[in-house]
Amino acid sequence: MHLRRTDRGFDRPTPSEITPRTVYEARRAWLRQMAAGAAGLPLAAWAARDAQAAFARPGKLPALQTVPSKAAGAGTDEAVTRYEDVTGYNNYYEFGLGKDDPARNAHTLRTSPWTVEIDGLAAKPGKYAIEDLLKLSPLEDRIYRLRCVEGWSMVIPWAGYSLSALLKRAEPLSSAKYVEFHTLADKATMPYVGSRVLEWPYVEGLRMDEAMHPLTLLAFGMYGEVLPNQNGAPVRLVVPWKYGFKSAKSIVRIRFTDREPRTAWNKAAPQEYGFYSNVNPDVDHPRWSQATERRIGEGGLFAKRRKTLPFNGYGAQVAQLYAGMDLRKQF
Ligand code: MTE
Repeated sequence: MHLRRTDRGFDRPTPSEITPRTVYEARRAWLRQMAAGAAGLPLAAWAARDAQAAFARPGKLPALQTVPSKAAGAGTDEAVTRYEDVTGYNNYYEFGLGKDDPARNAHTLRTSPWTVEIDGLAAKPGKYAIEDLLKLSPLEDRIYRLRCVEGWSMVIPWAGYSLSALLKRAEPLSSAKYVEFHTLADKATMPYVGSRVLEWPYVEGLRMDEAMHPLTLLAFGMYGEVLPNQNGAPVRLVVPWKYGFKSAKSIVRIRFTDREPRTAWNKAAPQEYGFYSNVNPDVDHPRWSQATERRIGEGGLFAKRRKTLPFNGYGAQVAQLYAGMDLRKQF
């Protein structure tokens, strides 16, 4: 590991270290494999080959009429990040490990037909077609900051409704303490499902009160349009006070359970990614500080970093959920 000492006294990671270790190692192995397999074909040319298949904006959803949100914390005065950045700089490991891989590769994702199954500890489990899910509650405009565990952030206008609207329909039993989210894992259309970076499907989880919190969003669109595939079409979670990896993309199953879910990142590196993963500038990632962040679109790597706020700035709305907990231990 190669760390630089900064004048502020903490170790700032080099860009290679901002990538989770498992991903970084897998990417190196993949590059070696590619270099060996594509002997004679320079890597850049190989990469440019399928950049042709790059992504086209998906356009308006017929049902994408939004209403202003009344949820406290659903707006911000901060500048919205450029659409090109939000759709061109992604983490969606099913489609590759590089930030530009999802935009290039996710066109293979089939988002229709799509159903979301709700099961587990609930009186009214069910299966919803995406068309019915869209109509279940009015879609609201919500502008959220998204803070990635890697140290960058964006400001994104979403269209969706509180996840609680859907969860309540299923009538969870009193024994249901957690909600688990399973996302699509289809080897035929997702080139990295089957790779050893993570266990598939990508699973995430929330405690019941977190899942029911009005800010927890089930999102169907962004920037007034359908979610692009690389951002988690056709339906994803957005949990603005947690690191971005909690916001599962392309959800196919929601399960009520009495046990804390084993999540994909927690399984891959438990000492680095805890179950809660609330944005917390006071708890460093084992390999880098979480005190500051780089806002994507603000002048590249040399732009002044912003201070990261506790709960990503949503403390007034969510801090009480964690009263009495030691968030250094339950990170
Ligand atoms: N969901 C799935 N299914 N697969 C993923 O790899 N990556 C997570 C999260 N949801 C991921 C996922 C991570 S690490 C982040 S930071 C956010 O998605 C990124 O969301 P964005 O690309 O829309 O900004």
